[in-house]
Amino acid sequence: MSFTAPLTTPGLALDPHWHRRAVFYEVMVRSFMDSNGDGIGDLAGLISKLDYLQWLGVDALWLPPFFESPLRDGGYDVADYTAVLPEFGTIEQFRELVTKAHERNMRIVIDLVINHTSDQHPWFQASREDPQGPYGDYYVWSDTDEKYQDVRIIFVDTEESNWAFDPVRRQFYWHRFFSHQPDLNFENPKVHDEIFDVVRFWADLGVDGFRLDAIPYLYESDGGTGESEPPTHAFIAKLRAMIDEEYPGRILIAEANQWPHEVVEFFGTDEQPECHMAFDFPVMPRIFYALRSQQATELERQLSEEVHAPEGSAWGVFLRNHDELTLEMVSEEYRQAMYGWYAYDPRMRANVGIRRRLAPLLDNARSELELAHALLFSLPGSPFLYYGDEIGMGDNIWLPDRDSSRTPMQWTPDRNAGFSTADPGKLYLPVVQSLVYHYNQINVESQLAQSRSLLHWVRNVIHVRKAHPTFGLGTMRVLRTDNESVLAFVREYAGTGTHLGDSAERILCVFSFAHNPVSVTITAEGLEGAGLHDLFGGAPFPPVGDDGRLTLTLGSQSFFWLGADAAR
Ligand code: NOJ
Ligand code: CA
Repeated sequence: MSFTAPLTTPGLALDPHWHRRAVFYEVMVRSFMDSNGDGIGDLAGLISKLDYLQWLGVDALWLPPFFESPLRDGGYDVADYTAVLPEFGTIEQFRELVTKAHERNMRIVIDLVINHTSDQHPWFQASREDPQGPYGDYYVWSDTDEKYQDVRIIFVDTEESNWAFDPVRRQFYWHRFFSHQPDLNFENPKVHDEIFDVVRFWADLGVDGFRLDAIPYLYESDGGTGESEPPTHAFIAKLRAMIDEEYPGRILIAEANQWPHEVVEFFGTDEQPECHMAFDFPVMPRIFYALRSQQATELERQLSEEVHAPEGSAWGVFLRNHDELTLEMVSEEYRQAMYGWYAYDPRMRANVGIRRRLAPLLDNARSELELAHALLFSLPGSPFLYYGDEIGMGDNIWLPDRDSSRTPMQWTPDRNAGFSTADPGKLYLPVVQSLVYHYNQINVESQLAQSRSLLHWVRNVIHVRKAHPTFGLGTMRVLRTDNESVLAFVREYAGTGTHLGDSAERILCVFSFAHNPVSVTITAEGLEGAGLHDLFGGAPFPPVGDDGRLTLTLGSQSFFWLGADAAR
């Protein structure tokens, strides 16, 4: 490791653990703010909204692909890894975004989509036209479509096979996603070199991290499942070694929609570290299940499952993102129940999931929105917000595929919700104008003007979280309760005492999923006799009994975050 390179990019405080304390915000460039009136969001528009994001308390932005692309998969079909799609702006503007974000102590994480490219990528064009040429082996070609039959199909709504026939080369090519997204051939060392150059290109521009899209699928083998095969892990470890050597402090985030014991492998080992973070896929649908079933049991079971995330690494927790709410990590029985509650119109479904936004999923119920956010901000790991969910934006299920929840950000009640001055017909997608979520009512400006709005509530909860490093750095222990609707856990942090606020702390978190008020007795082991106070208003609560028992009453769908003092 070089000691001359800075631990982080210029303009930012040195903190090798920043990702463990950060609040992340996913923002699609196309959807956030249009600066030049062409109907498409762009980098200059995003730059103009950095003050808003800073006010909200965001520490890091995750930008899905904004590269040259035919946009047949929201940009996850990359045609040039080092060029900005012209309608989004220029490399210079990207550089400016990084600088302006860093000035606000905000980091920039971008997507690295390396499992596949667009079929428009010059590598694929060369590969299909000249099998013997320099790009002939950049993709996974075969004379038959019979290989790798044990590999599942991911986009079940649109694809029948992971192979597609190319009439130019007269061979089949492998694709895990849409057939216009051929998979790169990681058996070819030249592909590794190309990807490393791409990483260096963006790291040199100052990005603070990369979300590794579709990362389990890099390699496939005869008889294998094509997921997390050993050479895939070896490649990630090699990438991590390069990052540690050349760009220490920058992070890798794994997108692996798998069970925790599988995902945890993407953190690697002490000897061969891989990613700094990995999204926690299984916990997310269980939050939604608990909200409707009024049962905490399944969520509790998931959280109790012992999963070792190595020192220094972190889970990424989320409620929604730019994809469908995936139900791949729940049993068939639970999946059907969730379709019944949340996707009663077949139009709301996509692949194995639900293509709706957070507020409509929760029927715009304020208590549920608060409860869901309280979980998001107190579960182990770093929270990822999806743009617009902080104001409870709606969706548009009449739009195809996942565009339903990628509509323009709603800033004001003015034309195009203040997103763009373009002719409304010219927008990349129409703004939401449904009965409940019309931009006349749901927009940043009006919520800023109401002190009790969801936006102000979310901002406040973010700031309370950030005042307590325990939420990012502490451990979690699930506690026993006598009420199946109630989840209780304690977050504990030993503290370093090195700077203000970084001291030992214990926080008792209690959530009731019941649709009516309840009383609960919690066995708060380790907190015997501790005094309690509410983290929001500071009000004292009755102390935990000397036997470790604590009885609380909770209103319908409500929660407490209680700081525990030292035992009396
Ligand atoms: C995962 C991305 O989140 C999704 O939007 C995309 O369609 C697939 N990867 C394929 O790149
Ligand atoms: Ca524009």
